[in-house]
Amino acid sequence: METECLSIDNLSCDFLTVEGIVYALSRVNLQLKRGEIHGLVGESGCGKSVTSRAVLGLVDRKHTRLGGVVWFDGKNLLTLPEEEIRSIRGKRISMIFQDPLNSLSPLETVGSQIEEAMANHLDLKQPELRRRTASLLEKVGLHPDTGRQYPFELSGGMQQRVMIAQAISCNPELLIADEPTTALDLTIQAQVLSLIKNLQKELSLTVLLITHNFALVTENCDRASVMYAGRIVETAPVRSLIESAAHPYTRALINCIPRSNTAEGNRRAKLPVIFGSPPRLYAPPEGCPFAPRCPKADEACAKKPAVTELGEGRSVCCHYPGDT
Ligand SMILES: Nc1ncnc2c1ncn2[C@@H]1O[C@H](COP(=O)(O)OP(=O)(O)OP(=O)(O)O)[C@@H](O)[C@H]1O
Ligand SMILES: [Mg+2]
Repeated sequence: METECLSIDNLSCDFLTVEGIVYALSRVNLQLKRGEIHGLVGESGCGKSVTSRAVLGLVDRKHTRLGGVVWFDGKNLLTLPEEEIRSIRGKRISMIFQDPLNSLSPLETVGSQIEEAMANHLDLKQPELRRRTASLLEKVGLHPDTGRQYPFELSGGMQQRVMIAQAISCNPELLIADEPTTALDLTIQAQVLSLIKNLQKELSLTVLLITHNFALVTENCDRASVMYAGRIVETAPVRSLIESAAHPYTRALINCIPRSNTAEGNRRAKLPVIFGSPPRLYAPPEGCPFAPRCPKADEACAKKPAVTELGEGRSVCCHYPGDT
């Protein structure tokens, strides 16, 4: 039977800043099925990283207002005491960030950083820690001696592999990968993603793959949620998104995928763009936030659209779902 690994229900996140309130997330719903790779995709600033930070309790509680519920193993992560969320973060839910150099300490060897994660969360001592670190490094395609090196001695792709080794070191159930390959060149990007995919299968991980690049979603994910201006506008299995996306924003994102190695791509030299820019989150629009950029928008779109369930795990938030 299919079970959920994590369920985000009506998550909202407001940042209380000196310039005013930033309404970063509005009633975000996202259900991760156990064992799937779920893509979270959308333009820069739409709230992808805030979603992952809110889930992991990595927000400044004093200046942030969170609403909704994040269910994980029968508990609401948003209301867990700091100590309890710390015992989950890095162990049962782990994270890979875009920029490994900012996440790894420059002063310690990568091996000791992997060991530290395991010493914190698992009751392990030397020489077991060293042995496990060597085997983790091999698992991510690095020589075990890499453990003796410092992060600055490694290439970007190798650093990202170290981050992955650290992230899987405590046998997590859920891996959140926030733009894990954006800083890498295309070949290394493909290698790192195929590593994540292989580990996901081998370790039965659930993966939330966060990216602004829809092509990565189509190549790597089972299902995906499309985010716009702090809202999920469409969720569906990736195949149905490609074949019949129901939200105009999803269709626009798909049209922006370069098809350089196809005959169609060669004919179509110029890539379409989505004109305009997302709304400022200081004053979210009353109606559909995509309306000002949407070719299909009319008077109805001045009102907030409701979420429509389309069956087969598909849902869309649009007044005219599926209209082409
Ligand atoms: N601490 C904060 N205080 C105020 N506003 C914030 C804070 N953190 C994020 N934001 C705002 O929340 C919005 C969403 O940011 P977020 O980092 O989640 O975007 P993103 O989708 O991850 O973008 P990118 O693809 O560029 O990483 C942005 O408008 C950002 O400026
Ligand atoms: Mg981000």
